[in-house]
Amino acid sequence: MNRIELIAPCHFGLEAVLKREIQDLGYEISQVEDGRVTFYGDKAAICRANIFLRSAERILLKAGCFKAETFDELFENTKVIPWEEYIPKDGKFWVAKAASVKSKLFSPSDIQSIMKKAMVERMKTHYHMKWFEEKGASYPVRVFLMKDMVTVGIDTSGVSLHKRGYRQLAGKAPITETLAAALIMLTPWNRDRVLVDPFCGSGTFPIEAAMMAAKIAPGMNRSFLAEEWGNVLSRQDWYHAVDEANDLIEDDVEVDIQGYDIDAEVLKAARQNAEEAGVGHMIHFQQRDVRDLRHPKKYGFIITNPPYGERLEEKAVLPQLYGDFGEAFRRLDSWSAYMITSYEEAERYFGRQADKNRKIYNGMIKTYFYQFMGPRPPKPKK
Ligand SMILES: C[S@@+](CC[C@H](N)C(=O)[O-])C[C@H]1O[C@@H](n2cnc3c(N)ncnc32)[C@H](O)[C@@H]1O
Repeated sequence: MNRIELIAPCHFGLEAVLKREIQDLGYEISQVEDGRVTFYGDKAAICRANIFLRSAERILLKAGCFKAETFDELFENTKVIPWEEYIPKDGKFWVAKAASVKSKLFSPSDIQSIMKKAMVERMKTHYHMKWFEEKGASYPVRVFLMKDMVTVGIDTSGVSLHKRGYRQLAGKAPITETLAAALIMLTPWNRDRVLVDPFCGSGTFPIEAAMMAAKIAPGMNRSFLAEEWGNVLSRQDWYHAVDEANDLIEDDVEVDIQGYDIDAEVLKAARQNAEEAGVGHMIHFQQRDVRDLRHPKKYGFIITNPPYGERLEEKAVLPQLYGDFGEAFRRLDSWSAYMITSYEEAERYFGRQADKNRKIYNGMIKTYFYQFMGPRPPKPKK
């Protein structure tokens, strides 16, 4: 298994960010589709992609891709996949998830059970066994059908990659860590510039930004399903990737990253989460109403997700809240602001039309990432 293909699902609308991350890790992209990026790598890429990618939801080992318009075709083509190359005879295997778009086959439970039967048939012939105990490591399969093309992957991550392990406590409506990281990467922010999240909740934006500034790989402090896959990867493969991540860390850099929120309780969670992530010393959290947002420096960045009023009574306060936010932003000389929200009237009450906006699906919720760009700082004199 020298050259393999890996599939990285991501938030719809953020494929370009993930593509760039994968290229920066040194891998060649084979395909970019809505909600996922596929790339070539070697075995070590399984470990490195899981540990280093900030905007991928999980990493799947691509096992096959074929056309199927009938269940017979699905069965026969699944049987052609060399499952024995991936799954040992004691492996536990099942089709954990099937998703179908614009395809003749659409019932997830039927797709799942037919594919499992085909996998068993293939493995019976190859291993000369009649029955599989399935007491070993887990090999959950995920399938996507798009216009009758079936893409089959084996999940190497297990728990979704947005769970970095640091967020033990969350406030109301926290943004996922992968989405927060991807949005920061969509902006020109870098660690030499100020970053403020005036609605920081449990601290996800400031923590993800600080981890980037300190070059802390997002998956360093968690485990992955494929760590159990002794037939594919050795412990050494994982140690190498973790060593590489450790060597990169620069957590003594000077940064100005701040998180404010009106709610003192949620700030306790934010501080604790930042400590867990190893960046507690890099972020200043403070209880503050957005009306009191100020900062003495120029050319800073706001990256935030303000309340969007999931409940009706909360919606009523949004015009005032976005108005206060807009007014505070106008007082900040030469700053840029980036906000993700599903509130349709965000620009109107913020008081300015965004220079750019981008539609992003946060789960099933359609949101916009509004971008209000300030000027670039002058180049430092030599
Ligand atoms: C959608 S949540 C942000 C979630 C956050 N990104 C996270 O990952 O946990 C919005 C936050 O805005 C805060 N908030 C509401 N009104 C505020 C105000 N006037 N000033 C500052 N923060 C406020 C809430 O307490 C809540 O934590």
